[in-house]
Amino acid sequence: MREAGAAPVGRSGVRSRWSWDTSARKGGESMMAREDWSEFPGNQEQHGSESAQPLMTLTYRSRATGAMSPAGLRQLREMAAARNRAEGVTGVVLYDNQRFFQWLEGPPDGVARVWSSISRDPRHTDIEAISVHAAPTRLFGQWDMRLSTSREEMADLRGMSPGLIHPEAERLATLAIGTDSDAVRGLIADVFGRYESLQTVTEQLIEPAARRLSDLWSSGDCSEYEVTLGLCRLQTSMRVLMADSVPDIADEPLVVLVAPLPGEIHLLGATLGAEATWQAGWETELRFPSTEEALKKIVATNWFDAVDLSLSPANQREHRIPSMEKIIATVRRASQNPALVVVAGGRAFYDRLATSSDVGADASHASAAQVTQAIEQARRGRL
Ligand SMILES: Cc1cc2nc3c(=O)[nH]c(=O)nc-3n(C[C@H](O)[C@H](O)[C@H](O)COP(=O)(O)O)c2cc1C
Repeated sequence: MREAGAAPVGRSGVRSRWSWDTSARKGGESMMAREDWSEFPGNQEQHGSESAQPLMTLTYRSRATGAMSPAGLRQLREMAAARNRAEGVTGVVLYDNQRFFQWLEGPPDGVARVWSSISRDPRHTDIEAISVHAAPTRLFGQWDMRLSTSREEMADLRGMSPGLIHPEAERLATLAIGTDSDAVRGLIADVFGRYESLQTVTEQLIEPAARRLSDLWSSGDCSEYEVTLGLCRLQTSMRVLMADSVPDIADEPLVVLVAPLPGEIHLLGATLGAEATWQAGWETELRFPSTEEALKKIVATNWFDAVDLSLSPANQREHRIPSMEKIIATVRRASQNPALVVVAGGRAFYDRLATSSDVGADASHASAAQVTQAIEQARRGRL
């Protein structure tokens, strides 16, 4: 088991140097010359005892050449996990109705070697790369290779969203589970071009689309595979959109930690929240602690003025409210800052299934775009 490591988003400049390649290839053909992989910039990986090295992420989807039996899938996963462990690669593979989606992350050399084998594997075809980019941290650091096949796996999370949805957000949700990644990025860029506002794009487009995807899954109109693919596309598209936007540092920047609640399955909310605090000119650390203990260690060994913890922006996750309350209490006790401000977010707060007092936070927000306002409001309340 690995502990998810992390690197600061803040001033590293990594965002503006992220690379992107969506060129689709059919099975058997590597989508990128081997030499190109060494070009990937990378933040220094802080990953347990591993030596510092760049980290990259590759996602793709494909079609199985024949139906996979449970035994066949188990064998594939076990073999993949063993080799990935040796290569320092982690990730998740989803299988649904003869389709695969896989997220691979690790050192460029390891990911390249594994990808080279995968792309030659006769068990699947129509292999379409979705994204390749340098990554500041692992998202699935605790899984050498997680396999998921079950739509029912998260059935207890089901719930329908009230409220209306902007037609463009509806369209984005449809595009996000379609075949055209360029159309996803195009629509987001188009809306951003019209409003020039990260807040508008986050609140009116990305988050409603994420909720829509979850609702489609709840009503059985799309699969877990598609939701994961869609959220992944939204997340990477937002990173690409904001890659060249380097904000001025605020006069007195707050130091903030932005993280999903340990154990959360969707990380989009935290990445959007970090984008908001970073664009506000604050010193931002985006972390993905896999356990309460890992989170405790982060706040015990670093100074933060404020911490933002979030549940999924897509699923309601109200069953996690009690653990959020417990974890926030732990964070306060462990923090170097006795006056730490803690704010909470996620769909549960958007849908009003929880309030800040339910989880012991100083404030909550209905959108990741409002993290800065929530923190400022909580700080004003302290004066
Ligand atoms: C959908 C799919 C996902 C796979 N994922 C991995 C993986 O994550 N890691 C891995 O080592 N092999 C994975 N494999 C198996 C590889 O394709 C390949 O069989 C294995 O790495 C042995 O490679 P080699 O025979 O070229 O050495 C996957 C295969 C398929 C069909």
